[in-house]
Amino acid sequence: MATITEEIQKRRTFAIISHPDAGKTTLTEKLLLFGGAIHVAGAVKSNKIKKTATSDWMEIEKQRGISVATSVMGFNYGDYKINILDTPGHQDFAEDTYRTLTAVDSVIIVVDAAKGVEMQTRKLMEVCRMRNTPVIVFVNKLDREGQDPFDLLDELEAELKIGVRPLSWPINMGQRFKGVYNIYEESLNLYTPSKQVVTESVEFKDIDNPELEKYIGSDDASKLRSDLELIAGVYPEFNVSDYLKGNLAPVFFGSALNNFGVKELLDCFVKIAPSPRPVQAVERIVKPEEENFSGFVFKIHANMDPNHRSCIAFVKVCSGKFERNANYKHVRNGKFMKFSSPTAFMAQRKSTVDEAYPGDIVGLPDTGNFKIGDTLTAGEELHFKGLPSFSPEMFKYIENTDPMKTKQLNKGIDQLMDEGVAQLFVNQFNGRKIIGTVGQLQFEVIQYRLLHEYGAQCKWEPISLYKACWIESDDAEALENFKKRKYQFMAKDKEDRDVFLADSNYVLQMAQTDFPKIKFHFTSEF
Ligand code: G4P
Repeated sequence: MATITEEIQKRRTFAIISHPDAGKTTLTEKLLLFGGAIHVAGAVKSNKIKKTATSDWMEIEKQRGISVATSVMGFNYGDYKINILDTPGHQDFAEDTYRTLTAVDSVIIVVDAAKGVEMQTRKLMEVCRMRNTPVIVFVNKLDREGQDPFDLLDELEAELKIGVRPLSWPINMGQRFKGVYNIYEESLNLYTPSKQVVTESVEFKDIDNPELEKYIGSDDASKLRSDLELIAGVYPEFNVSDYLKGNLAPVFFGSALNNFGVKELLDCFVKIAPSPRPVQAVERIVKPEEENFSGFVFKIHANMDPNHRSCIAFVKVCSGKFERNANYKHVRNGKFMKFSSPTAFMAQRKSTVDEAYPGDIVGLPDTGNFKIGDTLTAGEELHFKGLPSFSPEMFKYIENTDPMKTKQLNKGIDQLMDEGVAQLFVNQFNGRKIIGTVGQLQFEVIQYRLLHEYGAQCKWEPISLYKACWIESDDAEALENFKKRKYQFMAKDKEDRDVFLADSNYVLQMAQTDFPKIKFHFTSEF
């Protein structure tokens, strides 16, 4: 029997993030193939909502079904237990992705070699940086023509604002792609463009050995030698502790579609990526090896079946051992609860589990007790931090269109907000409810779900807002004065915190200048 420390040490819980189309789904699938979690390619469905399908409800329903199945994919690889947490592909659900990133211990970023760092990747990296999450970069699609690898490294460094260190290096690309030199393992990996074949690699410690010419020809051999020399000159030695602090990203090159460079990535990943780390709660830091169980809800998935308003709350285990049928405290409402059918996610199946360890995700069937950010413990009063809301990008007034269904509408809005679908602000001046989202698609989802799950009808009315800022001040009088002066633009969020709704960047800047005693925050946790 493994001890709890051994169980913790072997766990690697991470997310793969990328701009849509860079190859996240393809890479996930290849990793699952290595872990034996699936046996054929094509088994992992892309959880993308195609850009054209914004109003295609069948697509969204299908999507929601798929994303429960692929929300967490656990598998064993050698001595390691790996949990991949899936993130929604569509950028309108970015908030979901931010929250998932609070439950991982590290991240793999996939970048398209031709497109380089794209918008979505940049944003997600900001969240990783806030939390010092260690990241590894996989530069994908080397089988196509892409940017010069040195230029790409410069771009990664500048755009992601992190030090980089290549641990593998491509030998040509596109039609002339011959493979990569694995700097980390000192081996030469030659490319065979056939899918699903794990490429053999040759140990090659001495790059000056003339055998290199035999493998890749003299032009590519001398280019590789000079590239490696340059790398050694320009980039510092790879240092695992810099990576673990989130200051340095090792970079790998390959082609997910051709299964090339993926095993090298995985082998290095399991060695260097962190096992579950201590987690900060309001009260104290919680260490994974502590005896008592604790965990937090980072995602809630509602069932599409309107007859059973059941959800699955996804809990990340932070410390101790989670046990089926044990009594755990739901800290927010102070009640003890038992879970008779917690779900584990191995491969792509869900099954009931008896126990789970730090780093694992358990799915708890729920009928509305949980909201995002809730803490569960063996009895201690703990509140895990780190699930901030970000200022939404789009705002609309939500209006009831069926006065007979006001109760249903309010209940629906409350529950959808608890699930984290969007953010609710109540304007203190006129009492109207404002919903803030990251993208248009969320408004459509809310309207659809209110109707189908709660029987409530609503319409949207425009409001022109730029940002929602959470405000505070050490000076109570200054705060009151600000709220009085800006009373038309003051709102409360769901937790009753003060929020200033700025209608333009100019207004916000003016407010910051005119009220130096007020602190303006763009996330709800500060
Ligand atoms: P995503 O989850 O990040 O959005 O990307 P996904 O894996 O769905 O990949 C996006 C497209 O890029 C897919 O093509 C996929 O086959 C392709 N792709 C992934 N890795 C590589 C690679 O290493 N080389 C090349 N050349 N292409 C790659 P698609 O045509 O959009 O979809 P499909 O019909 O092939 O599934």
